[in-house]
Amino acid sequence: MKKELQNLRNKALKELARVKDLSAVEAWRVAYLGRKGTLTQLLRSVGQLSAKERPKVGELGNRIKEELQTALQARIQELEKEAQKVREAETLDITLPGRRPPQGGLHPVTRTLNEIIEIFTPLGFSVYEGPEVEWDRYNFELLNIPPDHPARDMWDTLYIAPPYGKGQDMLLRTHTSPGQIRLMQEMAPAPLRVLIPGRCYRYEAVDPTHEWMFVQVEGLAVGKKITMADLKGVLSHFARQMFGEELKVRFRCDYFPFVEPGAEMAIECFVCHGPGCRTCKYTGWIEILGAGMVHPQVLRNGGYDPAEFSGFAFGMGVERIAMLKYGIEDIRYFYGNDLRFLSQFR
Ligand code: DAH
Repeated sequence: MKKELQNLRNKALKELARVKDLSAVEAWRVAYLGRKGTLTQLLRSVGQLSAKERPKVGELGNRIKEELQTALQARIQELEKEAQKVREAETLDITLPGRRPPQGGLHPVTRTLNEIIEIFTPLGFSVYEGPEVEWDRYNFELLNIPPDHPARDMWDTLYIAPPYGKGQDMLLRTHTSPGQIRLMQEMAPAPLRVLIPGRCYRYEAVDPTHEWMFVQVEGLAVGKKITMADLKGVLSHFARQMFGEELKVRFRCDYFPFVEPGAEMAIECFVCHGPGCRTCKYTGWIEILGAGMVHPQVLRNGGYDPAEFSGFAFGMGVERIAMLKYGIEDIRYFYGNDLRFLSQFR
């Protein structure tokens, strides 16, 4: 019987060491220490032994029982520790820093356009947009540029394949000036002050100051008693707001078919400041806009009576303004889609 008890103990301890999880431990407990467990049953049979043997075997049996119970508790703790380790290893490390999504910014041309609009808005100018694909009539004829007129050479035009009906040529607008006609026709005979921004297209030889696609802002003010003094005042104010008091501004006579008289406003070259360089085509000046008093025929085409109404108009290239503002030396950077350039304006 003693031998039996020893064997049982050894077997039980060996098995317990091999047990892998808590439910297997419980099965082990039931098998040896449970009410019908092998050890329990063996201990029960101790009562049948002789009075001489009983105490010794009983004592050994109880010791083994205690030993097994202690081993059981120790094994349970061990298994729980292991389980904890596994849980810790599997836990998500939520301290990992997140990935920043790439952040965009406004294109320098958009920013500059917004700045221009902000300067004119307090002067009472609102914003209007016309179509980029335009009729010849609006882009040229109603602006006093009939077909075959030599002034058409001032705009290298991208025509859309005809025909669209007799005398209805379609083109990519070469300037924002057709917006003048559209707006006057909509508003006449009410006085108006408006900015017309938008993309323009030309069949252009591309160089540091010319692109085949660019953005213009047109300005138009029509009312009673508007004079050239208003034109100069508004545009000088604009130049001072945009570039500061120091930069020199120059007005000279120029010709545009839709104004009379016509003018050109130039600004001191921001690269060479005078002596001449590639950017200013060796003149020391960069023309930033054309302007003039709205031609009587154009007023008439827009629905205004030139005996009663007058107005001034101007048109400027937004890229040129941005180049001056940010010291950019080549207009081609704007549309090169190079983030090394664009991200500098965030
Ligand atoms: N539309 C002209 C151009 O693209 C610029 C211009 C000149 C606009 C004189 C005007 C103006 O409104 O009065 O070259």
